[in-house]
Amino acid sequence: MGRLQGKVAVVTGGSSGIGLATARRFAHEGAHVFIAGRRKAELDSALHAIGGNSVIVQADVSNLADLDRLYDTVGEKVGAIDVLFANAGGGSFSPLQDVTESHYDGIFAANVKGTLFTVQKALPFLRDGASIILTGSISAFMGMPAFSVYSASKAAIRSFARSWMLDLAQRRIRVNVLVPGATSTPGWHGLASSDEEGREMQRQTAAATPAGRLGDPDEIAYAALFLASDESSFVNGSELVVDGGASQI
Ligand SMILES: NC(=O)c1ccc[n+]([C@@H]2O[C@H](COP(=O)([O-])OP(=O)(O)OC[C@H]3O[C@@H](n4cnc5c(N)ncnc54)[C@H](OP(=O)(O)O)[C@@H]3O)[C@@H](O)[C@H]2O)c1
Repeated sequence: MGRLQGKVAVVTGGSSGIGLATARRFAHEGAHVFIAGRRKAELDSALHAIGGNSVIVQADVSNLADLDRLYDTVGEKVGAIDVLFANAGGGSFSPLQDVTESHYDGIFAANVKGTLFTVQKALPFLRDGASIILTGSISAFMGMPAFSVYSASKAAIRSFARSWMLDLAQRRIRVNVLVPGATSTPGWHGLASSDEEGREMQRQTAAATPAGRLGDPDEIAYAALFLASDESSFVNGSELVVDGGASQI
């Protein structure tokens, strides 16, 4: 028996990086997985990688009509959701003096508006006792140069979880934040503007991490599995930090 046997899980941003590794892990543990992302080609190859009876839905989480389509698909195919991993998002570097309106709008649309409505629109479909997992970041509580807008968007995630846990308490729905440190994903490597900058970023990040390296997406997926499963039944409103120790020094 898998740890999510018979459960239905929705993973946004399930076509790459942390979301893909988690969708694969959830499916391996017996879940019926729905993944959402914007790019069709990535969704198609993710479907192949996840296997099982997974379903892809092309959707932008900052577009409310897309979210309606995502949940209509889930409703038609299975009816109810046990696990929601609101993970889609990302960021880019910009020092304060260079921040533009479109930099702010893009990051807050995906990370903040997207997370809010991903969860709100899931509510009619979530089973009582469901587990909601939001993806935060250690940058929400650490200063990082040229990363203020992204970091602020992830601080909002932390705040959402605290409040939503209370809003959803009567339905016994748990809300937790999974907090990755630097993890080797296409999104993380895409932060660098050149190969050389990427190598230097990786060297500095590994040196600043007690584990001496970046995380692997599968290591984040195991933590998501814990929060998704009944093994975390008394864990609520928490931040589970998976960062090789980077935020503790
Ligand atoms: N990697 C790290 O070091 C790290 C650390 C802390 C937190 N995080 C967070 O972890 C999450 C996953 O990041 P990752 O590193 O795995 O990045 P990734 O490899 O770039 O994957 C991001 C996923 O989100 C999807 N996505 C992005 N914007 C979306 C939108 N508006 N609507 C729907 N899907 C969207 C992407 O697909 P499309 O582009 O096709 O839409 C992709 O599937 C993000 O919330 C990120 O902020 C990452």
